[in-house]
Formats: sequence, C-alpha cells, structure tokens
Amino acid sequence: MLLLISGGVDSTVLAAMLLKVLDPEQVHLMYMDTGLMRKDETIYVKKTLEKLGAKNIHIIRCENEFLGSLKGIADPEQKRKIIGDLFIKIQEREASSLGLPGNYFLAQGTIYPDIIESGKPGEAGDKAGGEANSKADAKNSGNTGLVKSHHNVGSPLVEAKRRAGRILEPFAELYKDDVRSLGLFLGMEREVVFRHPFPGPGLAVRILGEVSKERCDILREADAVYIEELKKRKTKTGKTLYDEIWQAFAVLLPVQSTGVIDAKRQYGWVLALRAITSKDAMTAKTYPFEANDILEISSRITASVKEIGRVVYDVSDKPPATIEWE
Ligand code: XMP
Repeated sequence: MLLLISGGVDSTVLAAMLLKVLDPEQVHLMYMDTGLMRKDETIYVKKTLEKLGAKNIHIIRCENEFLGSLKGIADPEQKRKIIGDLFIKIQEREASSLGLPGNYFLAQGTIYPDIIESGKPGEAGDKAGGEANSKADAKNSGNTGLVKSHHNVGSPLVEAKRRAGRILEPFAELYKDDVRSLGLFLGMEREVVFRHPFPGPGLAVRILGEVSKERCDILREADAVYIEELKKRKTKTGKTLYDEIWQAFAVLLPVQSTGVIDAKRQYGWVLALRAITSKDAMTAKTYPFEANDILEISSRITASVKEIGRVVYDVSDKPPATIEWE
C-alpha cells in the first residue's frame, strides 16, 4: 500500500487510519519536499507520521528540481502548470523505485469536493498535491476547482491504478469537517487536525513573480513568525488568533520599497499579511484584528526578517479577491 502524503489534513488523517487498520510495515508513505513548503514542514510531517506509527516514510527531496524548473518563470498559470507536471513526473519515478509489488494499492486522501471539482463523479483527482476545503467547494466546478484539482488528475500512475481497481479513496464521500472529526476520533492531535489549509503549489503562489530559493527562505521565515504570533495571542473569547482565523499566511511581493535603518537608506521587500474567516473558502471576510495585534506582529516580522522593509495588511474580502494572491 502506497499513500501519497501532502502534509495536509486529509492525507494525514488517511495515514492515521491506514496505520491503525493495516500492518504498519505494509504501509508506505511518500511525501515530496518541493522546497516550496512552510518552515520546518518536512520535519513536522515526518514527526507527525512517526507519532502515528509509520514505519516506511519516503521523503523525496526535490527542491532543486522544482526551483530549477521555476527559474525565470513569473506567470502564475505557468508556475502552476510546471509544478503540477513535476509532481506527476517525480511521483511516478519515485513510486517505481520503491520496489513495491506491481499490484500494490495506491491510497489518496481525496475528499468529496475534489471529485466534484475534477468534474468526474466517481473518478477523483489526486489529493497529494493539495487540499480542498469544505462543503461549498463541492458546488464549485469553476475556476477554483480547476486550479485546485490540477495536480495529479490524469496522472498515468493514478489512472493505471484506477483501471486496475487498485486505488483506495476512503474519504471520497466525506467533506473536510468530516475528515477532521474522523481525525479526532482516531486520537490525532488537535494541532494536526485543525491546521490551516495550504495550497498544493505551496509558496510558489505566495511569491508573486519569479520564485527563488532566497525568496522562499524570506517568505518561510516571515510566515513562521506570523503564524507563531497567531498561535500565541488570545482573543476575547479565549481562543488563540490562529484558531479563530480560518486561514492566515504571508505573501512576498516583487516590490522593494524605501526604508531607513541606522540613518541609512535601505530597500526592503514588501510583505502582505492575509487573514480571513470563512465557512468554506468560497467566500471569505478579512479578519478584523485588534490594532495592537497587527501592529506588534508587523514590528516583530520586520525585526526578525531583515530583508522585509515594510508590512501591509490585505483587507480584501472574497469576492472580489481570491484567498491566495495567485
Ligand atoms: P482561492 O485563492 O481560490 O483559495 O480563494 C480557496 C482555498 O483553496 C486553497 N487553494 C488551493 N488549494 N491547490 C490547493 O490544494 C491549489 O492550487 C490551491 N489554490 C488555492 C486556498 O489556500 C484557499 O484555502
């Protein structure tokens, strides 16, 4: 049994379930470190899977392949296409190098909205590259659906397994909130089950314009400071900001603006912070931070990440803006 892991909620809950019902020795978990992941994501995923009892974790380090293919590319759609194609190529190559028996089962954390989005009921797209979010996603077969489901739909590996009746998608009739309930039922940690969604193409859609290792590192660092602050800070309801917000992240803009440090002129990158509340990602409202929270978070980011010279807060609802910037 081979399970493709994105690190997101759906595939991680499926890993927990498979590891409970099968002999863990028979369960192979494959995760790709694309270099477009959040700070320490690979360590986090590995630790999470180990805690769930995984014995065979295959971490594919493919940062150079991804960043190399994205070099010089600034167009958002082209970036997504390159990433989607590379996911498929590497997945096929690595799966065949694991030495599994030819008729092995391939498991995917596909949920119901993915099937609707792929436009083929009963023939879900792969979930390893990303996550869909909620019930209302199911109603959407438009642009967001196409964007989200592109990763491995039509992947020869997935399609060959499907034809052979060797695809396992036990969450294909569930929504994200059902999967989260199942995760809690299986005894998984709340922190894992209630992580904010993260797009399949990762930081590539949060770095506007060309992606580079340096830009990924700057964004990773700034995003980690932002999320750490949200997890530390409590609201009036007693919840943390992180738990009250549906999704939060930082975006690196391809713009440098003037600043002054130690009486010297300096050009720093502009970072946008996004925080939204939503039921289903189809519509979203800007999270109304208390002023001191957003001001202190901004100061902490510029103090910790020297390349960032200016922080702005995105106050656009969806619609008209989408949640991600690309
Ligand atoms: P948008 O930007 O369309 O995002 O308002 C809605 C939700 O979907 C996530 N998202 C993606 N998830 N692959 C994914 O798995 C993608 O390509 C993708 N694009 C957006 C986004 O983070 C938000 O939760």
